[in-house]
Amino acid sequence: MSSSNNDSKVYIFDTTLRDGEQVPGCQLNADEKIIIAKSLESLGVDIIEAGFPISSPGDFNSVVEISKAVSDPIICALSRAVEKDIECAAESLKYAKRGRIHTGIGTSDQHIIHKLKSNREDILERGVRAVKYAKKFVEDVEFYAEDAGRTDNEYLARIVEAAIAAGATVVNIPDTTGFCLPDMYGEKIKFLKENVKNIDRAIISSHCHNDLGMATANSVTALRNGARQIECTINGIGERAGNTSLEEVVMTIRKHRELNLNCDINTQLLYPTSRLVSQTMGMPVQPNKAVVGSNAFAHSSGIHQDGVIKSRENYEIIAPEEVGVSKSDIILTARSGRAALKFRLEALGIIVEGDELNEIYSQFLVMADEIKVVEDESLRVLHRNFSKVMIS
Ligand code: KIV
Ligand code: ZN
Repeated sequence: MSSSNNDSKVYIFDTTLRDGEQVPGCQLNADEKIIIAKSLESLGVDIIEAGFPISSPGDFNSVVEISKAVSDPIICALSRAVEKDIECAAESLKYAKRGRIHTGIGTSDQHIIHKLKSNREDILERGVRAVKYAKKFVEDVEFYAEDAGRTDNEYLARIVEAAIAAGATVVNIPDTTGFCLPDMYGEKIKFLKENVKNIDRAIISSHCHNDLGMATANSVTALRNGARQIECTINGIGERAGNTSLEEVVMTIRKHRELNLNCDINTQLLYPTSRLVSQTMGMPVQPNKAVVGSNAFAHSSGIHQDGVIKSRENYEIIAPEEVGVSKSDIILTARSGRAALKFRLEALGIIVEGDELNEIYSQFLVMADEIKVVEDESLRVLHRNFSKVMIS
Protein backbone atom coordinates (compact mmCIF):
# COMPACT_ATOMS: atom_id res chain seq x y z
CA MET A 1 0.00 0.00 0.00
CA SER A 2 1.50 3.32 -0.97
CA SER A 3 1.09 6.62 0.84
CA SER A 4 -2.05 8.40 -0.30
CA ASN A 5 -2.52 11.13 2.26
CA ASN A 6 -3.65 13.63 -0.34
CA ASP A 7 -6.28 11.61 -2.15
CA SER A 8 -9.84 10.86 -1.18
CA LYS A 9 -9.65 7.12 -0.52
CA VAL A 10 -10.19 6.13 3.11
CA TYR A 11 -8.77 2.72 4.06
CA ILE A 12 -11.11 0.82 6.34
CA PHE A 13 -9.10 -1.20 8.86
CA ASP A 14 -11.45 -3.53 10.70
CA THR A 15 -10.34 -4.67 14.15
CA THR A 16 -13.52 -6.51 15.18
CA LEU A 17 -11.50 -9.72 15.44
CA ARG A 18 -8.75 -8.16 17.57
CA ASP A 19 -9.76 -5.07 19.59
CA GLY A 20 -13.46 -5.97 19.25
CA GLU A 21 -12.91 -9.50 20.37
CA GLN A 22 -11.25 -8.28 23.60
CA VAL A 23 -14.75 -7.67 25.04
CA PRO A 24 -15.13 -9.95 28.07
CA GLY A 25 -17.09 -13.07 27.15
CA CYS A 26 -16.92 -12.44 23.39
CA GLN A 27 -13.88 -14.54 22.51
CA LEU A 28 -14.30 -16.50 19.29
CA ASN A 29 -12.83 -19.77 18.08
CA ALA A 30 -11.04 -20.03 14.72
CA ASP A 31 -14.14 -21.24 12.82
CA GLU A 32 -16.23 -18.33 14.09
CA LYS A 33 -13.45 -15.89 13.27
CA ILE A 34 -13.19 -17.25 9.73
CA ILE A 35 -16.94 -16.79 9.16
CA ILE A 36 -16.69 -13.17 10.30
CA ALA A 37 -13.47 -12.56 8.33
CA LYS A 38 -15.16 -13.78 5.14
CA SER A 39 -18.12 -11.51 5.73
CA LEU A 40 -15.73 -8.58 6.30
CA GLU A 41 -14.09 -9.45 2.98
CA SER A 42 -17.49 -9.35 1.23
CA LEU A 43 -18.25 -6.08 3.00
CA GLY A 44 -15.15 -4.62 1.32
CA VAL A 45 -12.83 -3.76 4.22
CA ASP A 46 -9.25 -3.03 3.17
CA ILE A 47 -7.49 -4.50 6.18
CA ILE A 48 -8.57 -7.16 8.68
CA GLU A 49 -6.73 -7.12 11.99
CA ALA A 50 -7.08 -10.84 12.61
CA GLY A 51 -5.61 -11.14 16.09
CA PHE A 52 -2.73 -10.79 18.53
CA PRO A 53 -0.89 -14.05 17.78
CA ILE A 54 1.45 -14.11 20.80
CA SER A 55 -1.54 -13.85 23.16
CA SER A 56 -2.62 -17.51 22.83
CA PRO A 57 -2.16 -20.55 20.58
CA GLY A 58 -5.83 -20.20 19.59
CA ASP A 59 -5.34 -16.62 18.45
CA PHE A 60 -2.17 -17.56 16.56
CA ASN A 61 -4.06 -20.34 14.80
CA SER A 62 -6.94 -17.99 13.94
CA VAL A 63 -4.57 -15.59 12.17
CA VAL A 64 -3.07 -18.52 10.23
CA GLU A 65 -6.50 -19.82 9.19
CA ILE A 66 -7.87 -16.38 8.29
CA SER A 67 -4.75 -15.78 6.16
CA LYS A 68 -5.58 -18.94 4.24
CA ALA A 69 -9.32 -18.31 3.95
CA VAL A 70 -9.37 -14.65 2.93
CA SER A 71 -7.57 -13.22 -0.07
CA ASP A 72 -8.65 -9.64 -0.85
CA PRO A 73 -7.96 -7.64 2.33
CA ILE A 74 -4.55 -7.20 3.90
CA ILE A 75 -4.29 -9.45 6.96
CA CYS A 76 -2.78 -7.70 9.95
CA ALA A 77 -1.33 -9.20 13.14
CA LEU A 78 -0.73 -7.20 16.32
CA SER A 79 2.46 -7.31 18.37
CA ARG A 80 4.12 -5.39 21.14
CA ALA A 81 7.53 -3.86 20.44
CA VAL A 82 9.11 -7.12 21.47
CA GLU A 83 11.12 -9.42 19.20
CA LYS A 84 9.33 -12.66 20.12
CA ASP A 85 5.91 -11.01 19.50
CA ILE A 86 7.06 -9.79 16.11
CA GLU A 87 8.45 -13.19 15.14
CA CYS A 88 5.18 -14.83 16.21
CA ALA A 89 3.13 -12.27 14.23
CA ALA A 90 5.33 -12.86 11.16
CA GLU A 91 4.94 -16.63 11.50
CA SER A 92 1.15 -16.36 11.79
CA LEU A 93 1.04 -14.38 8.55
CA LYS A 94 3.00 -16.84 6.47
CA TYR A 95 -0.04 -17.78 4.31
CA ALA A 96 -1.32 -14.23 3.90
CA LYS A 97 -1.34 -12.93 0.34
CA ARG A 98 -0.60 -9.51 1.81
CA GLY A 99 0.42 -9.45 5.46
CA ARG A 100 1.01 -6.52 7.79
CA ILE A 101 2.64 -6.44 11.21
CA HIS A 102 1.18 -3.86 13.59
CA THR A 103 3.74 -3.10 16.24
CA GLY A 104 4.19 -0.27 18.72
CA ILE A 105 4.57 1.01 22.23
CA GLY A 106 3.03 3.41 24.76
CA THR A 107 4.16 7.00 24.15
CA SER A 108 2.28 9.10 26.74
CA ASP A 109 4.20 10.01 29.90
CA GLN A 110 1.51 8.13 31.78
CA HIS A 111 2.41 4.92 29.94
CA ILE A 112 6.16 5.59 29.77
CA ILE A 113 6.51 6.24 33.50
CA HIS A 114 3.74 4.20 35.11
CA LYS A 115 3.42 1.24 32.76
CA LEU A 116 6.74 0.83 30.98
CA LYS A 117 8.86 2.33 33.84
CA SER A 118 11.09 3.95 31.28
CA ASN A 119 11.87 7.30 29.67
CA ARG A 120 11.08 8.99 26.36
CA GLU A 121 14.45 8.33 24.68
CA ASP A 122 14.41 4.63 25.51
CA ILE A 123 10.83 4.29 24.24
CA LEU A 124 11.70 6.03 20.99
CA GLU A 125 14.59 3.64 20.45
CA ARG A 126 12.46 0.59 21.27
CA GLY A 127 9.76 1.75 18.84
CA VAL A 128 12.27 2.23 16.04
CA ARG A 129 13.94 -1.11 16.76
CA ALA A 130 10.54 -2.87 16.61
CA VAL A 131 9.69 -1.34 13.23
CA LYS A 132 13.10 -2.27 11.82
CA TYR A 133 12.77 -5.80 13.14
CA ALA A 134 9.27 -6.22 11.69
CA LYS A 135 10.57 -4.96 8.32
CA LYS A 136 12.83 -8.03 8.18
CA PHE A 137 9.66 -10.15 7.79
CA VAL A 138 7.14 -8.00 5.89
CA GLU A 139 7.21 -4.88 3.78
CA ASP A 140 4.01 -3.48 5.28
CA VAL A 141 4.60 -2.40 8.89
CA GLU A 142 2.19 -0.27 10.89
CA PHE A 143 3.52 1.52 13.96
CA TYR A 144 1.16 2.42 16.83
CA ALA A 145 1.92 5.06 19.44
CA GLU A 146 -0.29 3.72 22.21
CA ASP A 147 -2.12 6.43 24.17
CA ALA A 148 -1.20 9.00 21.51
CA GLY A 149 -4.37 10.82 22.59
CA ARG A 150 -2.57 11.82 25.81
CA THR A 151 0.92 12.06 24.32
CA ASP A 152 2.73 15.39 24.08
CA ASN A 153 2.51 16.43 20.41
CA GLU A 154 6.20 17.38 20.03
CA TYR A 155 7.34 13.99 21.32
CA LEU A 156 4.67 12.21 19.27
CA ALA A 157 5.95 13.95 16.13
CA ARG A 158 9.51 12.81 16.93
CA ILE A 159 8.61 9.17 17.43
CA VAL A 160 6.32 9.09 14.39
CA GLU A 161 9.07 10.60 12.22
CA ALA A 162 11.58 8.06 13.52
CA ALA A 163 9.14 5.17 12.92
CA ILE A 164 8.58 6.29 9.32
CA ALA A 165 12.33 6.66 8.80
CA ALA A 166 12.67 3.08 10.10
CA GLY A 167 10.21 1.89 7.45
CA ALA A 168 6.66 2.22 8.88
CA THR A 169 4.14 2.40 6.03
CA VAL A 170 1.27 3.38 8.32
CA VAL A 171 1.41 5.37 11.57
CA ASN A 172 -1.42 4.72 13.98
CA ILE A 173 -2.34 7.50 16.44
CA PRO A 174 -4.60 5.75 18.96
CA ASP A 175 -6.78 7.61 21.40
CA THR A 176 -6.45 4.53 23.56
CA THR A 177 -8.43 5.85 26.51
CA GLY A 178 -11.08 7.76 24.53
CA PHE A 179 -9.91 10.98 26.18
CA CYS A 180 -9.72 13.42 23.27
CA LEU A 181 -12.29 15.94 22.18
CA PRO A 182 -12.78 16.07 18.40
CA ASP A 183 -10.90 19.41 18.12
CA MET A 184 -7.98 18.10 20.17
CA TYR A 185 -7.68 14.93 18.14
CA GLY A 186 -8.01 16.81 14.85
CA GLU A 187 -5.29 19.27 15.98
CA LYS A 188 -3.02 16.34 16.82
CA ILE A 189 -3.35 14.89 13.33
CA LYS A 190 -2.83 18.35 11.80
CA PHE A 191 0.25 18.86 13.97
CA LEU A 192 1.74 15.62 12.67
CA LYS A 193 0.94 16.56 9.07
CA GLU A 194 2.69 19.88 9.54
CA ASN A 195 5.63 18.87 11.72
CA VAL A 196 6.69 15.38 10.68
CA LYS A 197 9.10 15.88 7.77
CA ASN A 198 8.57 12.47 6.17
CA ILE A 199 4.81 12.20 6.87
CA ASP A 200 4.01 11.90 3.15
CA ARG A 201 5.77 8.53 3.10
CA ALA A 202 3.15 6.96 5.39
CA ILE A 203 -0.60 6.83 5.89
CA ILE A 204 -1.91 8.34 9.11
CA SER A 205 -4.34 6.04 10.87
CA SER A 206 -6.99 6.96 13.42
CA HIS A 207 -7.82 4.48 16.18
CA CYS A 208 -10.35 5.85 18.66
CA HIS A 209 -12.01 4.46 21.74
CA ASN A 210 -15.43 5.53 22.88
CA ASP A 211 -15.05 6.24 26.61
CA LEU A 212 -16.67 9.67 26.25
CA GLY A 213 -18.88 8.67 23.32
CA MET A 214 -16.71 10.57 20.81
CA ALA A 215 -14.98 7.81 18.87
CA THR A 216 -16.83 8.40 15.62
CA ALA A 217 -16.63 12.20 15.88
CA ASN A 218 -12.90 11.95 16.60
CA SER A 219 -12.33 9.60 13.66
CA VAL A 220 -14.18 11.86 11.24
CA THR A 221 -12.24 14.88 12.52
CA ALA A 222 -9.02 12.92 11.95
CA LEU A 223 -10.05 12.37 8.34
CA ARG A 224 -10.74 16.08 7.93
CA ASN A 225 -7.19 16.76 9.10
CA GLY A 226 -5.40 14.28 6.87
CA ALA A 227 -5.80 10.78 8.30
CA ARG A 228 -6.65 8.24 5.59
CA GLN A 229 -7.10 5.02 7.52
CA ILE A 230 -9.81 4.41 10.08
CA GLU A 231 -9.51 1.60 12.61
CA CYS A 232 -12.96 0.49 13.63
CA THR A 233 -15.20 -2.41 14.57
CA ILE A 234 -18.62 -3.66 13.56
CA ASN A 235 -21.25 -2.35 16.02
CA GLY A 236 -18.48 -0.32 17.71
CA ILE A 237 -17.59 -3.25 19.96
CA GLY A 238 -14.31 -3.22 21.85
CA GLU A 239 -12.56 -2.73 25.18
CA ARG A 240 -14.64 -0.85 27.80
CA ALA A 241 -17.01 1.51 25.91
CA GLY A 242 -15.82 0.17 22.57
CA ASN A 243 -14.08 1.40 19.43
CA THR A 244 -15.13 3.59 16.53
CA SER A 245 -18.08 1.97 14.81
CA LEU A 246 -17.36 1.01 11.20
CA GLU A 247 -20.92 1.56 10.02
CA GLU A 248 -21.06 5.07 11.52
CA VAL A 249 -17.87 6.27 9.85
CA VAL A 250 -18.77 4.70 6.52
CA MET A 251 -22.24 6.25 6.45
CA THR A 252 -20.86 9.63 7.52
CA ILE A 253 -18.46 9.57 4.58
CA ARG A 254 -21.32 8.58 2.29
CA LYS A 255 -23.81 11.15 3.57
CA HIS A 256 -21.35 14.06 3.63
CA ARG A 257 -20.18 14.27 0.03
CA GLU A 258 -18.62 17.66 0.78
CA LEU A 259 -15.88 15.81 2.69
CA ASN A 260 -14.65 14.49 -0.69
CA LEU A 261 -13.87 11.13 0.80
CA ASN A 262 -14.76 7.63 -0.31
CA CYS A 263 -14.24 4.04 0.71
CA ASP A 264 -14.94 0.65 -0.85
CA ILE A 265 -17.54 -0.63 1.59
CA ASN A 266 -20.66 -2.28 0.17
CA THR A 267 -23.07 -0.48 2.50
CA GLN A 268 -25.94 -2.88 1.75
CA LEU A 269 -24.05 -5.49 3.75
CA LEU A 270 -23.75 -3.33 6.88
CA TYR A 271 -26.90 -4.57 8.58
CA PRO A 272 -26.38 -8.29 7.79
CA THR A 273 -22.76 -8.05 8.96
CA SER A 274 -23.84 -6.29 12.15
CA ARG A 275 -26.30 -9.09 12.92
CA LEU A 276 -23.77 -11.80 12.14
CA VAL A 277 -21.21 -10.26 14.52
CA SER A 278 -23.82 -9.72 17.21
CA GLN A 279 -25.07 -13.31 17.04
CA THR A 280 -21.65 -14.91 16.79
CA MET A 281 -20.30 -12.94 19.74
CA GLY A 282 -23.51 -13.09 21.77
CA MET A 283 -23.35 -9.32 22.08
CA PRO A 284 -26.73 -7.61 21.48
CA VAL A 285 -26.89 -4.37 19.50
CA GLN A 286 -28.52 -1.57 21.48
CA PRO A 287 -31.88 -0.71 19.82
CA ASN A 288 -30.96 2.95 19.33
CA LYS A 289 -27.52 2.18 17.82
CA ALA A 290 -26.86 4.51 14.89
CA VAL A 291 -27.23 2.89 11.44
CA VAL A 292 -27.82 -0.72 12.55
CA GLY A 293 -29.96 -0.56 15.73
CA SER A 294 -33.46 -2.09 15.52
CA ASN A 295 -34.94 1.39 16.06
CA ALA A 296 -32.70 3.14 13.52
CA PHE A 297 -35.52 3.10 10.96
CA ALA A 298 -38.51 2.88 13.31
CA HIS A 299 -40.88 5.79 13.82
CA SER A 300 -43.36 5.87 16.66
CA SER A 301 -44.44 9.40 17.45
CA GLY A 302 -47.47 10.79 15.61
CA ILE A 303 -45.68 13.83 14.16
CA HIS A 304 -42.75 11.81 12.84
CA GLN A 305 -44.99 9.07 11.44
CA ASP A 306 -47.14 11.56 9.59
CA GLY A 307 -43.96 13.17 8.21
CA VAL A 308 -42.40 9.87 7.10
CA ILE A 309 -45.61 8.68 5.46
CA LYS A 310 -45.70 11.94 3.44
CA SER A 311 -42.01 11.71 2.51
CA ARG A 312 -39.44 9.37 4.03
CA GLU A 313 -36.74 12.05 3.86
CA ASN A 314 -38.65 14.22 6.34
CA TYR A 315 -37.19 12.15 9.16
CA GLU A 316 -34.63 9.80 7.60
CA ILE A 317 -31.23 10.74 6.19
CA ILE A 318 -30.40 7.14 5.30
CA ALA A 319 -32.68 4.94 3.17
CA PRO A 320 -33.01 1.58 4.95
CA GLU A 321 -32.10 -0.33 1.76
CA GLU A 322 -28.78 1.53 1.63
CA VAL A 323 -27.60 -0.40 4.68
CA GLY A 324 -29.45 -3.65 3.99
CA VAL A 325 -32.56 -3.06 6.09
CA SER A 326 -35.72 -4.02 4.17
CA LYS A 327 -37.88 -1.04 5.10
CA SER A 328 -38.67 1.69 7.62
CA ASP A 329 -41.10 0.74 10.36
CA ILE A 330 -44.14 2.60 11.55
CA ILE A 331 -44.53 1.39 15.13
CA LEU A 332 -47.97 1.79 16.65
CA THR A 333 -47.94 3.03 20.23
CA ALA A 334 -50.11 5.38 22.29
CA ARG A 335 -47.98 8.23 20.86
CA SER A 336 -48.99 7.38 17.27
CA GLY A 337 -51.46 9.41 15.27
CA ARG A 338 -54.37 8.70 12.94
CA ALA A 339 -52.14 8.81 9.84
CA ALA A 340 -50.00 5.95 11.16
CA LEU A 341 -53.02 3.87 12.18
CA LYS A 342 -54.63 4.37 8.75
CA PHE A 343 -51.31 3.50 7.06
CA ARG A 344 -50.83 0.28 9.01
CA LEU A 345 -54.47 -0.79 8.55
CA GLU A 346 -54.15 -0.20 4.81
CA ALA A 347 -51.06 -2.43 4.77
CA LEU A 348 -53.40 -5.16 6.10
CA GLY A 349 -55.92 -4.41 3.35
CA ILE A 350 -58.30 -2.56 5.69
CA ILE A 351 -59.50 0.85 4.52
CA VAL A 352 -60.99 3.21 7.11
CA GLU A 353 -61.74 6.91 6.58
CA GLY A 354 -63.44 9.90 8.19
CA ASP A 355 -65.64 9.27 11.28
CA GLU A 356 -64.88 5.58 11.17
CA LEU A 357 -61.19 6.32 11.46
CA ASN A 358 -61.79 8.71 14.39
CA GLU A 359 -63.81 6.07 16.17
CA ILE A 360 -61.38 3.18 15.70
CA TYR A 361 -58.51 5.53 16.64
CA SER A 362 -60.12 6.18 20.07
CA GLN A 363 -60.35 2.44 20.67
CA PHE A 364 -56.80 1.96 19.40
CA LEU A 365 -55.49 4.45 22.02
CA VAL A 366 -57.12 2.48 24.83
CA MET A 367 -55.53 -0.70 23.52
CA ALA A 368 -52.10 0.94 23.02
CA ASP A 369 -52.09 2.35 26.57
CA GLU A 370 -52.61 -1.18 27.76
CA ILE A 371 -50.30 -3.25 25.55
CA LYS A 372 -47.73 -0.55 24.61
CA VAL A 373 -46.92 -1.72 21.03
CA VAL A 374 -49.82 -2.71 18.77
CA GLU A 375 -48.70 -5.40 16.33
CA ASP A 376 -50.60 -6.59 13.22
CA GLU A 377 -52.48 -9.34 15.05
CA SER A 378 -53.81 -6.96 17.72
CA LEU A 379 -54.71 -4.52 14.96
CA ARG A 380 -56.82 -7.18 13.23
CA VAL A 381 -58.57 -7.98 16.53
CA LEU A 382 -59.20 -4.28 17.08
CA HIS A 383 -60.75 -3.95 13.63
CA ARG A 384 -62.82 -7.13 13.97
CA ASN A 385 -64.30 -5.97 17.30
CA PHE A 386 -64.88 -2.52 15.88
CA SER A 387 -66.72 -3.92 12.81
CA LYS A 388 -68.97 -6.11 15.04
CA VAL A 389 -70.03 -3.09 17.08
CA MET A 390 -70.68 -1.09 13.90
CA ILE A 391 -72.89 -3.90 12.46
CA SER A 392 -74.85 -4.47 15.70
O1 KIV B 1 -6.18 1.28 21.69
C1 KIV B 1 -5.01 1.04 21.36
O2 KIV B 1 -4.07 1.81 21.63
C2 KIV B 1 -4.75 -0.21 20.66
C3 KIV B 1 -3.36 -0.42 20.12
C4 KIV B 1 -2.82 -1.73 20.52
C5 KIV B 1 -3.37 -0.21 18.64
O3 KIV B 1 -5.63 -1.01 20.48
ZN1 ZN C 1 -7.60 -0.05 20.76
